[in-house]
This record gives sequence, structure tokens and C-alpha cells, in this order.
Amino acid sequence: MDRIRIVGGNRLNGSIAISGAKNAALPLMIASLLTDETLTLENVPRLADVAMLKRILGNHGVDCMVMGKRPGQNGSGETLQLSAREIVDTEAPYDLVSRMRASFWVIGPLLARMREARVSLPGGCAIGTRPVDFFIDALKTLGADIDIESGYVVARAPKGLRGARVRFPRVSVGATHVAMMAASLAKGETVIENAAREPEIVDLAACLTKMGAEISGAGTATIHVQGTERLTGARHPVLPDRIETGTYAFAVAMTGGDVVLEGASESLLGEPLRVLSEIGADVDVTNEGIRVRRNGHGLSPVEVTTEPFPGFPTDLQAQLMALVTRADGTSHIRETIFENRFMHVQELARLGADIHLDGQVATVKGVGRLKGAPVMATDLRASVSLVIAGLGAEGETIVNRVYHLDRGFERIEDKLGACGAAIERLSA
Ligand code: UD1
Repeated sequence: MDRIRIVGGNRLNGSIAISGAKNAALPLMIASLLTDETLTLENVPRLADVAMLKRILGNHGVDCMVMGKRPGQNGSGETLQLSAREIVDTEAPYDLVSRMRASFWVIGPLLARMREARVSLPGGCAIGTRPVDFFIDALKTLGADIDIESGYVVARAPKGLRGARVRFPRVSVGATHVAMMAASLAKGETVIENAAREPEIVDLAACLTKMGAEISGAGTATIHVQGTERLTGARHPVLPDRIETGTYAFAVAMTGGDVVLEGASESLLGEPLRVLSEIGADVDVTNEGIRVRRNGHGLSPVEVTTEPFPGFPTDLQAQLMALVTRADGTSHIRETIFENRFMHVQELARLGADIHLDGQVATVKGVGRLKGAPVMATDLRASVSLVIAGLGAEGETIVNRVYHLDRGFERIEDKLGACGAAIERLSA
């Protein structure tokens, strides 16, 4: 298994091209199941999760072709052509779904187009139980019969789905994606209430609209979808990754220096950038993207609670925690989206961080210095927080189980290395 070796202490200077968003690319790829025409996606990040989803979609009969690089500022992404001319299998088996939770989302388009789907329950996950009850209730409301058989969700709608009022008990990104996709091919109007407002929802709605769907209100808590009988092919660029942007912004704040995050969009990152300024970094919007600097100033402690968009994202919680381990004072970070999303705490402690957990609140007392150590990546966002901590620690940090990083961060060692970090991949 690959490992990442970091020798901390170097400042970051230069520029980093921000990739397309993983969390937008995955639902967009899944939307290809809704049409027998070709969906072309530009600026798709080269990530292990994308490769895994190509395999999963291939299992259903989606022909997936890589068309090469897209020129322009986010030039590292792939252009993918996805053609689901014929769905050959409406079953998503356990061995594939268990590897990536988002693959459960195929249930929406498969059911809407083929009127049946048999999708494995995703199973447990390192960051809590992550149930699928909202998906099941939403699809039932749209007229599906649903049974759970031998660990599979079996959904049938022999006469097709019909529009309805779907109200989520709490905000769910995945359930909102699935409800939007399913409603696009349902008969009549669907109103999705308490919908997620994440930019990735807006991106999927924009793509579905290009495919012929009638959607309004995406980005607000109430989304209206007027169902249509058939969707067509389309061409759509994946929006920039706000979590990757925030991660590198926090890394620069940790090491000090001056980095332009090329292609990054400020409108996707209001709250994290505000928090970063409060901690003591200078953040400016430039023609190229977002410029983050920290020169000489210490880091101030903060009080932050994770929330659905536009609040502070749970996907940046671990990175924020790594940063404030070096603050001049005590920070409090409250996690409200996922239970058990604090696995990075014990690893950060190995580097000398002083963190006390009480339920969903982490109290982080800033320490004068961190010292490098071997650490273990436990999930995607936790693992990148260890990279940030390693960059700010004295001496050598080895991050084990790097495959978690490769799921969500494209060429992280190249991007950071080009800005002066002492970081390398040690291949197994
Ligand atoms: C997505 C993101 C993930 C991010 C999360 C929250 C992708 C591929 N993943 O995950 O990176 O951390 O949003 O911003 O886009 N819930 C239920 N029942 C359900 C569905 C969800 O109780 O049927 C709960 C979850 O356990 C969690 C909360 O709702 O506590 C929010 O989860 P959700 O927004 O659904 O997360 P994902 O879509 O899986």
C-alpha cells in the first residue's frame, strides 16, 4: 500500500490548479443512466472514486469513453462520454456498492427509466451508520413499491413514477440528488421540500435541465421538477471542487506562504473562507481564482459548527481541526452532520495535538509545535487533515493507507510539491 512522506516546515508558494468536484462528478455520471443518448462531462477529476463509478456504471451497460484533456484553466480533468443506450442490468451488487456509498444513488435513475432496480444496501461506513431511509421514503412517495430482500433494496414501479410532494426530515445531499433524478422522468410535478442547497445539487440540476428536464429552485430549500417522458444527451462541465479548494487554502494557512488556487470559485466557499480570514490568513479573489496568504501572523482560535450549505462543510472539518491545533488559544469545533466523524483526532494527537472530545464537540487547545510521526489515514477527509498537520509539523510524517486520499484528491503530492512542500509518495 502506498504511503505519503512529508517533511514539515516548508512554506507553500506558487499556484495550484483546482480540479473538478468529486461530489458533483459522481451524481452527474449517474445521471447518464437517465437517457439512451450520450452525456458528455468535461473537467472530470482523475480519482479512484470516479474510476470505481465507471466500473459500476459499466455493469449496468453504460459505455464510458475518455476523450482526453479539456483545455483551459482546469486542464487536468478528463472529458467523459457516457452512453447508456441500453441498460443491461438493473442490479447493483454488494461488492460494488459497498466500496462507494454514492453508487447507491443509481437506484433513482434505474427505477425511473427501467421501472425496477435492485441495489445493495451500502452497509456500514467509517463515519457513522449513514442510513438510506430518506431515499426509500422519497421513492415510495413517487409511487415505487419497495422491499428489502437479502440486503438489497428492491424497487418497482411497473406503471412508472408519478410526481408528488417529497419532504425530507433533514437535509440530505444524496437523497436530494436521487429525488431530482427520479422526478425528472416521473409523470407530473414533484416538489422537493427541505432539499439540500449544496452547489453540487445546483450543478446536477443544470445538467438535467440541459438534458431536457424542467427544474426550478435548485440551490434553495424547495425544488420543483416537472417530469418529462424522455431525456436527451447533453454536454456539461463539472464545477470546481470547493472541498479541494478549502483544503489547500487551509494548508497554506498552516505553513504560511502565498498561493493562488486557480479556477477556484469564491461563491462556493463563503463560510470556510470567512473562517480562514478569522484564523488569520489573507484571502483575496483574483482573476485566476482565490489567493491565500499568511506571512508572520499567528493563528487565532475559532468556534465553528458544521452545517449543510451554505454553512461550514463537514468535509472541511478535519482540515480545520488540523489547522487550529497550532492556533494561539482554544478552538471549539462542533460536528452536526455525521456521528463519529472524529477519527482524525487520535492521529492528530500522535503529532502532539491537544484535542479533547465531548460528544460531537472537539475542544482544540493550540500547541506551540507539532512533531512528525507515522499516522494512519482512516477516511478521505481525515487523511488529508493529516497531510496538513504533517506540513506544519517538525520532521517527518508518514501517512499510511493513502488509498483514502486517492479517492478524493487528484495528484495531491504533485500539487503541494510544486508549491515547495517536501512531500513524496512511497510506492508499496
Ligand atoms: C454527501 C457528500 C459527502 C458530504 C455529505 C454532507 C457526496 C458523494 N458525498 O454525502 O462528502 O460529507 O454529503 O455534506 O456528495 N441521512 C439519513 N438518512 C438517509 C440519508 C442521509 O439519516 O437516507 C443522514 C446521514 O446519516 C447524515 C445526514 O443525513 O447524518 C446528511 O447526509 P447526506 O447529506 O445524505 O450525505 P451524503 O449524500 O451521503
